[in-house]
Amino acid sequence: MPRRISDDLISEICSENDIIDYVSQYVKLKKSGRDYSGLCPFHNEKTPSFHVSQEKQLFHCFGCGASGNLVQFVMRTENLDFVDSLKLLADRAGIIIPEDSENFSDENHELKKRILEMNKLSARFFYNMLKDKTVGARAQEYFIKRHIPWKTVTVYGLGYAPGTRDALLDYLTGHGYTPEQILEAGLAVEREGKIYDKFRDRVMFPIIDVRGNVIGFGGRIMDDVKEVNGYKIPKYLNTAETPVFDKGKNLFSLNLAKNAKATELILCEGYMDVISVYQAGVKNIVATLGTAITESQAKLMLRYANEILICYDTDEAGTKATLRAIEIINSVGGKSRVIKLKGAKDPDEYINKNGVEKFREAIKKSVSSTEFRISLIKGQYDTATTDGKVQFINEVVNIFTSLKDPIEIDAYMSKVATETEINKEAILSKYKEKTSKNSYRKIPTRQEFKKRPVQKADGTEQVVSSSLLGAEKRLLGLISQSKKLCRMVQEEIKAEEFSTEVYRKLAEKIYTAYNNGITPDEAMILNEFSSNPEESNEASAVFYNLEIYSGDEETVRDLIYKIKLEKLQLKINSETDAQKLSELFKDRQNLLDKRNTWEE
Ligand code: UTP
Ligand code: MN
Repeated sequence: MPRRISDDLISEICSENDIIDYVSQYVKLKKSGRDYSGLCPFHNEKTPSFHVSQEKQLFHCFGCGASGNLVQFVMRTENLDFVDSLKLLADRAGIIIPEDSENFSDENHELKKRILEMNKLSARFFYNMLKDKTVGARAQEYFIKRHIPWKTVTVYGLGYAPGTRDALLDYLTGHGYTPEQILEAGLAVEREGKIYDKFRDRVMFPIIDVRGNVIGFGGRIMDDVKEVNGYKIPKYLNTAETPVFDKGKNLFSLNLAKNAKATELILCEGYMDVISVYQAGVKNIVATLGTAITESQAKLMLRYANEILICYDTDEAGTKATLRAIEIINSVGGKSRVIKLKGAKDPDEYINKNGVEKFREAIKKSVSSTEFRISLIKGQYDTATTDGKVQFINEVVNIFTSLKDPIEIDAYMSKVATETEINKEAILSKYKEKTSKNSYRKIPTRQEFKKRPVQKADGTEQVVSSSLLGAEKRLLGLISQSKKLCRMVQEEIKAEEFSTEVYRKLAEKIYTAYNNGITPDEAMILNEFSSNPEESNEASAVFYNLEIYSGDEETVRDLIYKIKLEKLQLKINSETDAQKLSELFKDRQNLLDKRNTWEE
């Protein structure tokens, strides 16, 4: 859950970062009139329609409609959520954001910062060791054997931890860190009073969070199995829990995968799987960090994708883990599909054997998690026999009772009925029998579903004209600039009378600001809309409306009149009661009369 960061802090972070400065990293900006302009980073164009206002600290594209404040620019370009974007900007300005209000202390922050610095240094050290002709020779060969070219090594910052006991310890103490601090970072271990390097003679995989911090490492031995004195050495070692590293809360390669901006994220088991698939060009892939997927990892993925494509190892353990992952993803309200690979043990082997096109085909052929579950059960029974059918249906109904979406239940019930040639009504009654009386869920027919109304914030649903929306937009822009104009509007139109959720919120914010004696800060107000890019575009466009530079009381009166008239007309159009209709007509006459007195 995004933490609440105080408005003061947000305001400080925003004012310490200049939008022109920041955007210039992405767009070549030229001064044009009051604004700066350049080629829009959010759509393809040849002539600049992307504008940035230093005065307002907003950007706006007249071509594609992308619009917002600096935080929202970061959200889009870095594909981060609101809080992480703020953190990035805070880091840039050297401002400290409390991690969580309860256990935050400067000491804790310093500790985390120190560990991140040590991790960064260590990653660089491992990389340099891998690059070294002598020290890194075997590791280089290993990567070549695994079909990983140097380009991939640099993309992932892969490395090699030398076989000696204190290569990294020496390096880090040389940089002023104490052995205790190195222990604390999980980079060393203590045994019988002696401290030595945790990772020895392993190829190294840095684990990087979405903000680009090296938070931990995975290290793999370069043999298939290794025994020392009869003791089997684990294939992978991962950083243990540290103040910056929690295996259950991070994902390998999410920092790269998020930039693919895909609607789906592929989830696999191993670091090597991710790397092989990524370097073949399918970049929206991540892996857990040596443990089964947790709810917070599922949620994290769903922040970047609508759907998770599970692509685990093809052995029995992988299938079991797939079922578990489906459950976890389900439990946090996410959707998942399953990619089935044939003739290879994992995605890495599959892509090396068959090439990326075959892998892409497998993605296309991925099955919904429900279909996957059903097919697994089907495989356990001989559905050619009557007995088999009965047992199969009994099992499958359990799946139905675990589903929430009535359409999905209905669709799969039909499918199973057709496949088994068992009457759907019979399956349905079995299903009803299993869902307890209290939690009895009615399955709506498709027809009922289509008719279900979509509720707007005010509870009603209506179609409004674009001219009404245009008038409201212009009015909001005007009042954000002037207390006097705002007062005029506030007397005539309540915040909740505006047509869209975004406009209602904006009106509320602007009214409240003036009522509290402050001038509304457009860029700050926009932060409210950060969870939804469409809403933030809509809100920001209100402020980034060039027309708002000119506008007086008369304009405002015209707009109020226009809005009221259109709203009345909408009511008149939908009113059927004669009594009420005549009242509405009276209202309209009053409005017209009032308008005439204005004109005198
Ligand atoms: P795998 O054994 O499938 O490894 O474990 P892999 O990634 O395919 O690697 P290669 O192809 O054998 O080199 C999957 C993941 O489980 C964790 C690691 O995160 C690994 O990527 N794991 C595995 C461990 O943490 N420790 C182990 O000893 C083994
Ligand atoms: Mn593997």
